[in-house]
Amino acid sequence: MKAAITVLPGDGIGPEVTAEAVRVLQKVAEDFGHRFSFTEAEIGGCAIDAHGNPLPNETVNACQLADAVLLGAIGGPKWDDPKAKVRPEQGLLGLRKAMGVYANLRPVKFMPEVADASPLKREVLEGVDLVVMRELTGGIYFGDKGRDEKSAYDVCTYTVEEIERITRQACLLAYNRRRKLTSVDKANVLETSRLWRETVDRVVQTEFPFLELEHMLVDAAAMHLMRRPADFDVMLTENMFGDILTDEASMLAGSMGLLASASLGRENAPGLYEPIHGSAPDIAGLGVANPLGAVLSAAMLLRHSLELETEAEAVETAVNMVLETGAVTPDIDPESKLGTVDVGRAVCEQLDHITHDMAFGALAMNIGALGT
Ligand code: IPM
Ligand code: MG
Repeated sequence: MKAAITVLPGDGIGPEVTAEAVRVLQKVAEDFGHRFSFTEAEIGGCAIDAHGNPLPNETVNACQLADAVLLGAIGGPKWDDPKAKVRPEQGLLGLRKAMGVYANLRPVKFMPEVADASPLKREVLEGVDLVVMRELTGGIYFGDKGRDEKSAYDVCTYTVEEIERITRQACLLAYNRRRKLTSVDKANVLETSRLWRETVDRVVQTEFPFLELEHMLVDAAAMHLMRRPADFDVMLTENMFGDILTDEASMLAGSMGLLASASLGRENAPGLYEPIHGSAPDIAGLGVANPLGAVLSAAMLLRHSLELETEAEAVETAVNMVLETGAVTPDIDPESKLGTVDVGRAVCEQLDHITHDMAFGALAMNIGALGT
């Protein structure tokens, strides 16, 4: 198939990790006979430097015209002045809104090879396989905000429609997994949370009655994520709670550098794929950033935007094999001397083995068929 992918490397380690994700996508195209074209555009701090705007119109256009968008990371101390009129983060929030990608999927799975990199005990981590479904284009991050000399405010609003559509996405996801949905809110305090809970209840009861649904307050959810993370299947939550809980949940996988995300909107609209880590200015340019979060985001891109499930699984298997061989960056193994490019290349090498085995398997089947 042919696909146009817009790449937004962004700031800090963004360019380093997206380069490896693109390397892997090119390898997939080569091995499976696809044609992917890549167009780069600017977002975040680098776009502020070049155009005075964290989200130039050309970037929005390039994203809207693409089949899918792959983003690295944005932000850094250079643009961190609290008095600044424009911030890199506005670029990312604006892009999510412009693309209408309201459903953010962040999977977290226990990987035995990296369990030692997690600050949590192995027995707590065993069996962890969850996805956080974070609402991405509403709530307090997008509400009215303001300040005067003595006060400041940020308004949190949710409409019934916004809650319904993200709930349906979470239900569909849960349906294809272990059919357990945990909806996280703060309904004992917040009005938006009370509307959230009511709406989730109604959608599940009327449209997905076969799912197991539980409600959990966000403070308790933060605790249970550390205490019994393997009990969660799909965790549905609003924008800010999801932002916080996914950073916490990343520790279950050992390293933030390993986690991928997909942000999806209307059917057939391009999705936005990004590792969940930030721009890591402390290691930017050193060539040691872990590219696997970006590579796994590319796998999600193959699955959700291009419907190339076999290719997505091949990339995920290749990443697991790389972890097994120990070809990792220092965030996972502090002794490791390998860098970003080495790990990207290692994934491509494993892909070679996988596609070779697949071709061999197909050949063996053909020979088998000839014999019958
Ligand atoms: C994330 C990030 C962003 C967010 C920031 C950079 C605006 O933390 O994707 O989790 O808050 O959504
Ligand atoms: Mg975050």
